[in-house]
Amino acid sequence: RIDRRPRLHLLALVSQLPRMASTLMTPTQRNRLSDLQVQVAYHNERYFRNAAPEISDFAYDALKRELLELEALLPDSEASTSPAQQVGDDRLDAFTTVAHRVPMMSLDNTYNQEELFAFDERLRKRFPDTEKLPYVIEPKIDGVAISLTFENGTFTRAVTRGNGIEGDDITENARLMIDFPEVLTGGEIPEFIEIRGEIYMTYEEFNRINTERDASGKTRYANPRNLTAGSVKLLDRVDARNRSLNMIAYGMGTCEPAVFIKLSDLHRSLANWNFPTSPMVQQAEGIESVWEAIHHLDQRRAEFAYPTDGAVIKLDPLTWQKEAGATAKAPRWAIAYKFAAEQAETLLEAIDVQIGRTGKLTPVAHLKPVLVAGTTVSRATLHNEDEIARKDIRVGDTVVIEKAGEIIPQVIRAITDRRDSASQPFSFEALLEERGIDAERIPGEAAWRLKDADAPEMLRRRVIHFASRPCMDIEHVGEAAVNMLFDAGLIEDASDLYRLRVEDIEPLERYAQKSAENMIEAILESKKCELWRFIHGLSIPHIGAQSAKDLVRFFRSVSAISATSAEDLEAVDGVGAIVAESVHTWFKDEANQALIERFRQHGLELALPEREDSGTLQLDGKTVVITGTLPSLSRDEATALVEQAGGRTSGSVSKKTDYLLAGEKAGSKLSKAEKLGVPVIDEAAFRSLIASDET
Ligand code: IVH
Repeated sequence: RIDRRPRLHLLALVSQLPRMASTLMTPTQRNRLSDLQVQVAYHNERYFRNAAPEISDFAYDALKRELLELEALLPDSEASTSPAQQVGDDRLDAFTTVAHRVPMMSLDNTYNQEELFAFDERLRKRFPDTEKLPYVIEPKIDGVAISLTFENGTFTRAVTRGNGIEGDDITENARLMIDFPEVLTGGEIPEFIEIRGEIYMTYEEFNRINTERDASGKTRYANPRNLTAGSVKLLDRVDARNRSLNMIAYGMGTCEPAVFIKLSDLHRSLANWNFPTSPMVQQAEGIESVWEAIHHLDQRRAEFAYPTDGAVIKLDPLTWQKEAGATAKAPRWAIAYKFAAEQAETLLEAIDVQIGRTGKLTPVAHLKPVLVAGTTVSRATLHNEDEIARKDIRVGDTVVIEKAGEIIPQVIRAITDRRDSASQPFSFEALLEERGIDAERIPGEAAWRLKDADAPEMLRRRVIHFASRPCMDIEHVGEAAVNMLFDAGLIEDASDLYRLRVEDIEPLERYAQKSAENMIEAILESKKCELWRFIHGLSIPHIGAQSAKDLVRFFRSVSAISATSAEDLEAVDGVGAIVAESVHTWFKDEANQALIERFRQHGLELALPEREDSGTLQLDGKTVVITGTLPSLSRDEATALVEQAGGRTSGSVSKKTDYLLAGEKAGSKLSKAEKLGVPVIDEAAFRSLIASDET
């Protein structure tokens, strides 16, 4: 590589004349440079401020790297205003900005071993007396950076990274959503400390939220990181209350008095103070051992309950960190080694559309089956019409697909040099026409929606949803069975399921008498199911399992819900304006009323049984928060017991919480409950509470 530094310094002298600088570049490079600057700025905005990136991290890193290489040809003063030289900015108008005492920097990153070793070599030049430098290796968590201020051991403020110098004050949301101790316990707590770390969402929580979104016909979130970034900036407390985030601490800003000598000391103290730290922090001397540690981490990370996308390698002694210093945006004493998401190439055989329950159309790629990250992939999402056009993806292309974390496989790009000369750009409209689908593009969105609200495909989707696990949970009535029943003309909506007899099913292909009997038995059994499951199964827009439970707890019957005004519905704990309006509109619709009537005629119990002794359920109207590990009950079992006793569960502690059911390793929720004076009970006390007669 040619070192262009001397020339750059000369040019810096005439940097008032930026045109001059560009003369070092060919016109093609100049064009590419401005093109890349626009692209990187755009993707920074999508990722940091909107939490909705359009390209993979890998693709973004590649763009940025190319830009940085071109900018090396520019004088420093000109390059410094480039989006590649700045920390992304997450700040939003709705939040108060707070300055960090010590800036929050970003990290340089690499995907290859050579560059990692070069990082070590640079440092060894600075510290020539030590052959094997002492490093700390941490997992790189794919979340959102945060800084928490503790004064005399008590939490006072949470701030996002923002632009690195100042960030958004998200103290309220941190208290509501993030599990961390608000009071530090254990020895030697500094008077003032900014604890730095990453907020993340577990795959479990991510899937829970997406399942609920599926159920209420909303689009899924793409990955836990985006959802974390969006969650910390929620303005609605009801929404915030229903999300749960975690945190791992890995560093600090200001610390007074400055008690720490090494980063590894800080890690030990954080753990002592009961602060969540990563169980996979390793120490190593010399880059060879670091390399081994990275491999060890890569092998283990599949076990993690949350997404990680690499390792962060940091020099251990804090004085050495200081000496190594930093560039404008990243320290010289640390580097991120990123694991590339697994990609594969395959043939795009066809593009089809999938119709959702609400009529939304999603283009789907049918692929020649290929193995990626341990599973065979034959379908991938193409998101929407605009995405296909932007990437110019065509049927017959060889495409690169990627599977990262929980993301559904995505088509990253087409390999255009391998494209047949006869290939034609893809037209979504032509596909719809070919399929005879009558749809329109939703104004202001990239998505298309069916015009006919009762299109057969939507009706099928609704029945599939009705019978599914999170709703009526009818065994033997999955997607294939529902399609078959529709094709045979046996059903038109979910209420028709209850009209079916064994004789109807038996003649169908693949159904022996036994399996026909099983299906009918499962359908009949579902008549006795919990009321919230039925409400959830109706496909009322915006109604997920939790809102169905909230409605049922309060109204106890379908007719009561249906007879209530939107205003009164909204008064129910957990029901917001959008849900209230949606429920009210749905029940007003005559076709929906007729559907409910048909269910009733088939003998579905559309109300909860009368309480024998009304009002004496032990947890009637009470809100319980569950935290930590209970000795014998799982989360789901404890939730079920709370609900059986007439109560509801919530994800976070507030003044409205009646009990905190706490097990082992209860974190911030416990300290919060204690602070608010919320009664804290253990499993034994909980069991006797729900068994007792008193309320
Ligand atoms: S250290 C000055 N350690 O990665 C040091 N960052 O790409 C800056 N991240 O903004 C951060 N895990 O949001 C550090 N173990 C870890 C990390 C980590 C995830 C994030 C963090 C940072 C970004 C930089």
